[in-house]
Parts: sequence; C-alpha cells; structure tokens
Amino acid sequence: MKVLVVGGGGREHALVWKIAQSPKVEEIFCAPGNAGMRKKARCMDIPAEDIQALADFAEEKSIDLTVVGPEAPLVEGVVDEFEARGLKVFGPNKAAAQIEGSKVFAKNLMEKYNIPTAAFRVFDNSIDAINYIDSVGAPLVVKAEGLAAGKGVVVAKDKDAAVSAVKSIMEQKVFGKAGARVVIEEYLEGPEVTVLSFCDGKIAVPMVSSRDHKRVFDNDEGPNTGGMGAISPAPAYSTELAEVVEKEIIHKTVKAMAAEGMPFKGVLYTGLMLTEKGPRVLEYNCRFGDPETQVVLPRLKTDIVDIMEACIDGTLEKMRIEWKDEKAVCVVLASGGYPGPYEKGKVIEGLSEAEDEETVVFHAGTEVKDGKIVTSGGRVLGVTALGESVEQARLKAYSAVSRIKFEGMHYRKDIGKIL
Ligand code: AMP
Ligand code: GLY
Repeated sequence: MKVLVVGGGGREHALVWKIAQSPKVEEIFCAPGNAGMRKKARCMDIPAEDIQALADFAEEKSIDLTVVGPEAPLVEGVVDEFEARGLKVFGPNKAAAQIEGSKVFAKNLMEKYNIPTAAFRVFDNSIDAINYIDSVGAPLVVKAEGLAAGKGVVVAKDKDAAVSAVKSIMEQKVFGKAGARVVIEEYLEGPEVTVLSFCDGKIAVPMVSSRDHKRVFDNDEGPNTGGMGAISPAPAYSTELAEVVEKEIIHKTVKAMAAEGMPFKGVLYTGLMLTEKGPRVLEYNCRFGDPETQVVLPRLKTDIVDIMEACIDGTLEKMRIEWKDEKAVCVVLASGGYPGPYEKGKVIEGLSEAEDEETVVFHAGTEVKDGKIVTSGGRVLGVTALGESVEQARLKAYSAVSRIKFEGMHYRKDIGKIL
C-alpha cells in the first residue's frame, strides 16, 4: 500500500512511525512532513491546507490511503473532496468535523443529547455577551466559536478579563470570522483527561487515556502552549470513570452524530474535566491530539492501518484492538522564547544517541538545512519513552532528553511527576 499522511508536526511523525510498522505498507508520503519523518517517508512540498493539491497528488501517485492529521483541512472538507474523487481517506467529512469547527454546534449537540458538559450561553453580539457577564459574574470561560489555533479559549478569573476577551474576539476580531459568535461557559475544576476514540460512523472504540500539559513552566505555571508533554494513561482516570465516560459521553456522542445525519468517522478527541459532580466534556476535536498521540500510539499493539481501514469501511465492531500495559511519557523540547517569539535554524545535536528500543524522538518543528537537522518551529521535538511504571518511563525519557542539545532549548522537568 501507498499511504499519504497530511501534516507536519509531532502527531504526524507519530502517525508515520506507527503506519510504517504495518506489513501492508510499502511507501509513505507526507505533506509537508518534517525532518524526522524523512527516515520513513518522502516529504512533499504541499501545504496541509491545500485540499486540491493534496487530492491531485493522491490521484497522481495512486495513494491507497490518506490520513489527515490537523483539523483545518478536515473542517474545510478535505475528506469530502477525496471521497468525491473515489480516494480512500481517514478522517471525518466536513459536516462531521463541525464537532470541532463550531463550538456552538458541539454545545448544542451535547445539550440536545444530554451529554454532560459545562452550562453555557451563545452570543452573536458583544453587547449581550457583556451584559450577561455583568449579570452572572466571574469566573467564566469565554470561547470563540470557530478554529483559533488553540488560542480561542479564555479562562477569565474576573469580570474584566471576561469582558476584554469578548471585546477582542467580537469587536477587534482577533480570530477573524471564528469569533462571530462566542460561547460563555460555566467555569469547571478538576483534573483533565483526553480520550481519543476510533470511530466508524456507527460505533466508537476508545483508545488508552492520556493527559497533556499545556502550561509552559513546571507546576502548570505560565502561559498556555500547544502542549509541553503528555503521559498515558491519565492517572486520575479509573476503570469506573472510564465506564461512565464511555457510556454517558463517547458512545452517546457517536450515536448523536449518526442520528443528526452526520456519522463521525476517524478519531474523535474528547477533552474531559473530572469534576466533583462527574466527568464533563470541555471540548471535542475531530482528530488525534498533539502531543497525546505521541504517548498513545507507542502503546498500540494492533496494526493501525487495519484499524483505519475498518473505520472507513464501517467494520470497527469486528476489530480486536490491543494495547501494551507499559506506561508512556513524552517530554516536549521547545525553542527559546516559545510560546512567545523564538528563533529558528538552530542545529540539533544528539538525536541518534537519544533513541533506543523503548525511546523514540518524534520531530515537531524540524527541517534539514545544509545536511543538518535544525529547528523550524516552537515545539521542536517530543521525546517519548515506555516503562513498566510512569516513574520508569519518566526517567528514561529525561535520560534521552539529556543527550539532546540545541541553542535556547527549554522543556518542563516535571512531566510524569506532576500527576
Ligand atoms: P479547549 O480548547 O476548549 O480545550 O480549552 C482549552 C483549555 O481551557 C482546556 O484544556 C481547559 O484547561 C480550559 N477550559 C476549557 N473549558 C473550561 C471550563 N468550562 N472550565 C474551566 N476550564 C476550561
Ligand atoms: N493537546 C491538545 C490538542 O490536541 O488539541
């Protein structure tokens, strides 16, 4: 088989790494990919958002399966275009991807089907939104309706912060049309858990749980990032809780999407908060998580290509999906200054010394320049290790990290320690 992976981050490197283990796969392409994926795949200079160019390439090369990593092309309808051309593609179509593309759609779906989530109101103008904030007070969470590269959510501890979030989203339009409407939500507290599920339009099969660490500094301090590390399983997620989440949230969601006439195929990302009153959905995404994928896929025993084909064909029920008992820890190495402005082009050393049987270095923001691997993004690498316990995995991951160097490199020291 020939497989095309769309995207160029750590999540897509983990996908390429896992897909390459399938005996069915002869050749992998990625668009655009990164320096790490070059070991197993051919990187094509096609942007992940250029739907026509991606479909042209897949036709030209007779690609047997295309796997879409990021949300933007899914929300824009990449799957619909591929399907219209008779090309096999893994991911939700445009209608189903609304579950991430519109927070209003997602909240209305949860309300209609009684799926537990934070209480909310939707506003299409800033005056009503601000009056509402005045009447209920803080803390509150303000969310831009559409895609905002992970930056559209403001957890406001006081009224002023909530009002200024509404103004910047709706009046200054910092996220453009993604801010035409806002969702204002009840503030929830508790540990966060990510559950990714394979879906075939009819059923969902949850993967092992995970937890990411979004804050830049140790002890969950400092500004939010795209994710500074992850662990799997999520420590707070007991078997009992998993049963409740699967029954009350995940299966209900997939059934709801089918009932709405937009069956969900691909990976459904459910971001949960485990509150005192029970688990609540914080957000859905229509794709694998980043960096969660970097800890989940190394634990997957089953051939991922078989699973993806079952999702596309609607035969997931027949699949037996198996997982390793070992735990996984992923530490993200970031460029100096990230999540603020940072320099690129720093030479990375020690990459080959860092890897062994149970340790993989996933590339996120890297490229090859003058024959050397250099930094090209804020999150540069994700170092994942497996171990019998989280502690063992953590020690292995940090030992690998200590062999890698680039100017300005920074990372959290407490991934796998802070549970
Ligand atoms: P989202 O993009 O919706 O996942 O939001 C980003 C982050 O904001 C989440 O991972 C939570 O840490 C936080 N968040 C989102 N919604 C809420 C809420 N209702 N209450 C408290 N924190 C929230
Ligand atoms: N780790 C958060 C996300 O993938 O959206």
